[in-house]
Amino acid sequence: MAKLTGKVAFITGAGSGIGRASALRFHEEGAAVVCADVDIDGAKDTAARIAEHGGKANAIRLDVTDSAAVKQALEDTVVDFGGLHVLFNNAGVGGRDLGWDTVIRINLDGVYHGLFHGAALMAARGGGCIINTASVAGLVGLVRPPVEPEPPIEWGAGAYMAAKHGVAGLTKQFALTYAPKGVRVNAIAPGYIHTPMTASVREDPATEAFITSLHPLGRLGQPEEIAAAAAFLASDDASFITGVILPVDGGYTAR
Ligand SMILES: NC(=O)c1ccc[n+]([C@@H]2O[C@H](COP(=O)([O-])OP(=O)(O)OC[C@H]3O[C@@H](n4cnc5c(N)ncnc54)[C@H](O)[C@@H]3O)[C@@H](O)[C@H]2O)c1
Repeated sequence: MAKLTGKVAFITGAGSGIGRASALRFHEEGAAVVCADVDIDGAKDTAARIAEHGGKANAIRLDVTDSAAVKQALEDTVVDFGGLHVLFNNAGVGGRDLGWDTVIRINLDGVYHGLFHGAALMAARGGGCIINTASVAGLVGLVRPPVEPEPPIEWGAGAYMAAKHGVAGLTKQFALTYAPKGVRVNAIAPGYIHTPMTASVREDPATEAFITSLHPLGRLGQPEEIAAAAAFLASDDASFITGVILPVDGGYTAR
């Protein structure tokens, strides 16, 4: 039986990778989906794929660093779709050249904006479920691939690490704060996943082999495998789960 029948889900970063796979999976599970992304073309493409299969979906341009815009988009969802049951704060960036401020603003502030406005809105409406995309980089330090020349210390991994550990902390704090109001808050910590974000890592066979070797299951993950975990956490099957950072990482963090 479909797990999300009658639910309204709002997904950030829905124009690509994990967000797109999750939008499609949430639709398969019976949800109406708001596909939000700073890349409106990507969001429209995702929404169109859902509509092609007879589902209800909307695409909006949203920059998660804009707190007021996030609040407005969530409120608009309630008006346009008649509710807001699931919020997936998934949008994020990776890469060495982005710098501290950009990575923190998108990967940490962006999630905070969703949590801050989404949890309050859901609580006022009787409850809901929020999922954040953290990372294995929100649980452990990342091991550097053996690249030459060695990257400078200011490469983006430090900011990514800080942001994702921050997402893990915010997940637990919001879970505690909003548990009495019927809002469950969890995070998923993916290992390396086949999405555009990891394209540069996968370009060089030696780097890809090194990254693959960090995953005991011996391969990188697929976005659909993160979407499956998100659909579970969003569903009533996870009704007693809150404040959890769930690794979906092929065993990366088990060592
Ligand atoms: N791919 C991986 O290996 C991996 C591993 C761990 C965690 N993650 C996390 O998963 C999430 C999704 O990543 P992905 O791999 O699907 O990457 P992706 O690049 O395929 O998709 C990310 C999406 O986020 C959107 N986005 C970027 N900045 C935004 C902003 N300011 N506002 C709204 N949307 C914005 C992009 O336009 C893009 O559509 C990210 O939070 C990422 O950090 C990815």
